[in-house]
Amino acid sequence: MHIHKYEKIWLWSGAICLSLFLLIVGVSAFAMGNQPPSHMETIDPEKVVITPPFDKPGFTKVGEKEYEAVMLAQAFTYTPSKMSVPKGSTVHFKVTSTDVVHGFEIPATNVNMMITPGYVSEISYTFDKPGKYLILCNEYCGAGHQVMAVTLEVTA
Ligand code: CUA
Repeated sequence: MHIHKYEKIWLWSGAICLSLFLLIVGVSAFAMGNQPPSHMETIDPEKVVITPPFDKPGFTKVGEKEYEAVMLAQAFTYTPSKMSVPKGSTVHFKVTSTDVVHGFEIPATNVNMMITPGYVSEISYTFDKPGKYLILCNEYCGAGHQVMAVTLEVTA
């Protein structure tokens, strides 16, 4: 069977691209441990405030330069609203919503989650640079959406 030269180039470039993309996704998922922020962990959205650990949202030290932030997203703020960690700390965020869909974004980082009622979203991030980091809502959630933000301070 005769295949035209350009046809062959096109087929090979398609096959190479496909392999390359699968390799990137594979390395990212299995070698670097990346995964979608939502772990498909569910929670009864009506009972968030009485379901551990969300009955006591807060910020706790869980290891050397390692913290866990159990957070509630609600119209129009996050609980806890003030957090501070030393430079180089890793924070494990565990977030759910008590009402509607909210966002959870820290600009200039790869932290960006959708906080859906009924689900627990998790992401970890290591803060290497000191400064004030804004945690903001990037999903329109009502009349006060634009004021929904808190800060996390990273001290030197
Ligand atoms: Cu919460 Cu917009």
